[in-house]
Amino acid sequence: MHFSILALPALLSGLSASAQTITGQYDCLPAGGYTLCQNLWGKASGVGSQNSTLRTATTESVSWVTSYTWANGPNQVKSYANVISNAAKGVQLQNVASAPTSWDWTYASQSVGIRADVSYDIWFGKASSGSPATSASSYEIMIWLSGLGGIQPVGSQITTGTVVANHTWNLWKGPNANWEVFSFVSAAGDLNSFDVDLNDFFSKYKPRSDVYEPIS
Ligand SMILES: *[C@@H]1O[C@H](CO)[C@@H](O)[C@H](O)[C@H]1NC(C)=O
Ligand SMILES: *[C@@H]1O[C@H](CO)[C@@H](O)[C@H](O)[C@H]1NC(C)=O
Repeated sequence: MHFSILALPALLSGLSASAQTITGQYDCLPAGGYTLCQNLWGKASGVGSQNSTLRTATTESVSWVTSYTWANGPNQVKSYANVISNAAKGVQLQNVASAPTSWDWTYASQSVGIRADVSYDIWFGKASSGSPATSASSYEIMIWLSGLGGIQPVGSQITTGTVVANHTWNLWKGPNANWEVFSFVSAAGDLNSFDVDLNDFFSKYKPRSDVYEPIS
């Protein structure tokens, strides 16, 4: 499982002396049961920088702050930061009985016209050994807790008002390189305090070529 957050913090003064910050284009840092990474793959399309600071990490939780400033190329993605759940990789879906998660987040500050999303990004493949976003991938589920500035998931919207895990979503579907992407976009604006069983997204519905349908 791969969690992404884009946020502008105003909290740096509250960090302890031992806080670790990553600044490089593809840096990662061990973070308890997680790995904190940042990826500035589109930085050449703009001018700016991003860094991510680990605040706390245990086996079961992680907290961090990502700070960025980007100018130019408003339609080009510049960067993201994410935490990877080390334990989620390679888990067989048929063995998943529940997948509880909670995520409290905020845009600590934001510029006028900011374009950003805050999402879960979960990868599925036929073989448990494959890496996400490769030819071993078959589906990607994104769960958008926020999307600002008119940005959209890949593809087109296929449903409105789909209820999964006690929240209402607009569902988008579209292709990526070798796999299909289903993106659940919050229909109720920002979900800053999200606390659900992700298994609802995996077990109550199944992706088909044209819809995401209830499993009867
Ligand atoms: C982190 O990014 C912010 C915003 O771009 C910048 O002001 C700050 O100097 C950066 N800090 C480091 C350590 O790179
Ligand atoms: C929906 O909310 C109920 C009541 O709080 C809770 O028991 C249940 O686990 C929630 N479902 C999911 C999928 O998070």
